[in-house]
Parts: sequence; structure tokens; C-alpha cells
Amino acid sequence: MVEWKKYSHKSEVKWTVDGLMLDIDHHTKTKHLLLESYLQDWVETLTGNCKIGTGQVTLVDGFCGGGIYRDGDDYWEGSPIRMIRAVEAGWRSVKERKPYQDLNIAYLFVDAQREHTECLKYQIREAGYGELLDSGRCRVVTGDFEDQLEDCLSWVKQRGGHSFFFLDPFGLADLPGMSRAILSLGRSEVLLNHMQHDGFMRPMGWHRSRGSIETFLEKYGFANHYDWCKEIDKLSTLKQQALLHDSALRLYRECSAPRFAWTFAFMRNPNTVYYYLIHLSNKPTAVSVMRRTLWKYNNLDYQFHYGIFGLGYRTLDDLNQNLQLLDIHQRNSQACQEKLREQLERFMFAQKALQFRKLFEGTVEQHPATREDYMGVIHQMVLDGDLEIIREERSRCTSRIFNKDIIRKSEAKQLVLLSDRTSERIPRKRRASRTSSASKHVTALETSLTSQSLLFPEFEL
Ligand SMILES: C[S@@+](CC[C@H](N)C(=O)[O-])C[C@H]1O[C@@H](n2cnc3c(N)ncnc32)[C@H](O)[C@@H]1O
Repeated sequence: MVEWKKYSHKSEVKWTVDGLMLDIDHHTKTKHLLLESYLQDWVETLTGNCKIGTGQVTLVDGFCGGGIYRDGDDYWEGSPIRMIRAVEAGWRSVKERKPYQDLNIAYLFVDAQREHTECLKYQIREAGYGELLDSGRCRVVTGDFEDQLEDCLSWVKQRGGHSFFFLDPFGLADLPGMSRAILSLGRSEVLLNHMQHDGFMRPMGWHRSRGSIETFLEKYGFANHYDWCKEIDKLSTLKQQALLHDSALRLYRECSAPRFAWTFAFMRNPNTVYYYLIHLSNKPTAVSVMRRTLWKYNNLDYQFHYGIFGLGYRTLDDLNQNLQLLDIHQRNSQACQEKLREQLERFMFAQKALQFRKLFEGTVEQHPATREDYMGVIHQMVLDGDLEIIREERSRCTSRIFNKDIIRKSEAKQLVLLSDRTSERIPRKRRASRTSSASKHVTALETSLTSQSLLFPEFEL
């Protein structure tokens, strides 16, 4: 961990109580909106979807900053205040429907700079949440998050319930190691900022030009995942980007041992990623909720970008691009569902029958579809006579599929494994209606290159 600290930027003071603050940019705004939208859904799902929801939730922002940005002549709240707003709003809406339910919510915000934590406390009061500080439900701590982690985990464990950690440092930190410790709690998840450009490409370039790339990769334990970087100059930009994406996911999958890992790209320019938000979790429900959120903020063209960057966000350079977005969501949704159908055909080809839950969990890391997409596509396959949905021993034709439902190949029709005939088989009329209904609800995210190359055999780098 000591080595990682060399690359963190904590020595610079960026926020103070008397008005020093950063200017907000488009990426950070989208990152904040995504975080806020996910957390509101998260708390509503945890507490609202069953008779008696969870009793405690704990939210941690390990690199919290000062809680406020300048946005032109206006101000923009930072991640810790947005976390509070989202969770309190989500809980309020559940409480209105279920006044008998209780939820104990606690927040912990950590930053290495005292100026930042002082500024954040001030901003929390300004935002109207002073009571959270006074009651101890919100704690703001000054210190290195790495050093605080052990105490923090004991506290979260003692509280019980579900926890969410947001890890958003400037530059490098031992995020894989910290995430592993966090996920070992069980009902916890991590959304982290993997600084692909500043944290990886820049230091790698620096070391490569000085002939010390191998030592650098070894020192951080990246040698297994980023070994190809020694030859990086020989690769095209897109191939570099695809490998970086794949390596990042492999790094977290192997080092942090989540059950599910997924990325969302923030583009620096049309061909390179600035940073990835990476979601690590152990629960399929967390994956489902996060997918809906990520599709909501995705504005990359699925057909081109998905195999390289996954889903992601790029800033809108001009009005024309903005207008293009009007149909990007529809095109993306259709392309994603067609790929999902191919995937399910392949998957079901090797199975007789299995529960919907197992089907979803067994394939969800191989493409970006949401749970709602699964239901829509399976329903379509039932209509086409390829699959059957069995509930309480009866065959159903429904787009509302439950975890326990059995999905099996139709006895009347055998699935044929032909990857490129999916779109031909779906009648044009039905395809259109599927797409428009699917585009109404928001959808989800991506996977490692290894599995993408199976899904996208036609995709050549
Ligand atoms: C990118 S800013 C956080 C911004 C915040 N997440 C937001 O979106 O509003 C990163 C923060 O991490 C803090 N930091 C850097 N290294 C740290 C460490 N080892 N432990 C805790 N905080 C650290 C910095 O002082 C800085 O305030």
C-alpha cells in the first residue's frame, strides 16, 4: 500500500471553508447524477420491495472532497451531499408507502485533508443536513482512507445490514485491495473510479520512456494484468483501449473477488477513455439496479463502442450530436436485445431447462442487458415458439418472469444455433414494438473482452 500512496494527490488543498473549490466539468456532473440516481433506486429496492426491508444501511465515501463545486455562476453539490440527498429521498418515498417500516441510515465521509473535511461539514449544514452531524448519523473523518479502513469495516460489520462504498480518489490508490476487504463484508458493494488515463496510462508512459516499465508493473502487482503494456506502442489506439478495459476488469475480478464486476466509461475523446467507474458487487439485485442506471447515462453508440469501451459517456460537442442522441437510445436498445437473444440461444442450446434466476446470474456478466431486457427477449422467444416459461407446472406466456420460473426449450421446436439469423426471425412488426417498449424503460452495461469476443464473433480489432 505504501507504494500506491506515492501516486495519490492528497497533498494539494482544493477546498476550504472560505470558498476555495474546484470548477465542475461535464464528466463529474454525469458521475454525480449517476451515483445519485443509483443510490435512490438502491435504497428503494432494499427497503421497498419486500414486506419488511433491511434494517440498516451504511454509506461510505472514502475520498469525499469538500462537498461543493463551482458551476459557472452557480454551485454544484459534490458526491457526499448527493449521497445523502439520494438516500434520504429514496427512503422518504418508501416511508410514505410503508409508514410502519424503519431504517437506520448512517454515513461516513473520509478525506485526507482537514481543509476538505471542514469544508464538507460546513456544506452539509448549508444543505440542511446539520441534524445528521449533530445526531452522529453522519461522521466526517480526516485521515487516509487506507488507514481508516479497518475501523470503518468493523463499524459497518457491527451495524449490520447493507453497505455501499464510493471510492473516488485523484489518481492511484490501492482500490483493488481495499475493495476486496470491503466485499468480504458480504452485503456490501463498491463503486470506484479507475483512473485509466491519469492513474495508469500516464505513469506507464513515464516509466516506459525511462525503461522502467517492468519494475513499475511488478511493484503494483500489475504484471499479470498489464503485461501487454510493454508492447503498447505497437498496438492501434482501439486495441490499446480494448486491452486496457479488459485488463482493468480482470484486475478487479481477480484482486477484489466480487461476484459481479462491470464498467462504465467516461471518454476523454471519441477514441480514449479518461476513467472508468467500476461497480463491484455480490448480489444480482445490485447488478440489475446498476444496469438500469448505467443505460440511463450511456450515450455511446452500442454497435461501435460496446466491444471496446462497454457502455459509457462522452460530452456532447455540438447540437448535431445532441440531436443524434434522440435515436441512439432506441438503436442501442434494439442492438443490445438482438445480441441478448443470440446469447440466450447459445446458452439454452446447452441446457434443457433452468430457473430464470440461474439463467440471469449465469449470463449477466457476458453482455449489458437489464433484467427487463431478459424478460422481454424471453417473452419474444416464447411467442416465437423457441422457449417455454413454466410456473407451477403450467406453461405461461408472459413478459413478467419470476426468479423461480423455469425456462426451458420448447418441446415443439428445437433451437437452432445460427448466430446471424436472429434479426431475420423476429417479424419486423414485433421487433418495432419490442424496441419501443424497451426504450421506455432504462437499461444496463458490459463485460470483459474475453466474453465479449464470444458474444461478438464478428468484432475484429
Ligand atoms: C476526486 S476528489 C473527491 C471528489 C468527490 N468524490 C466528489 O465527487 O465530490 C478526491 C479526494 O480524495 C482525497 N484523498 C486523496 N488521497 C486520499 C487518501 N489516501 N485518503 C483519503 N482521502 C484522500 C483528496 O484530498 C480529495 O479531496
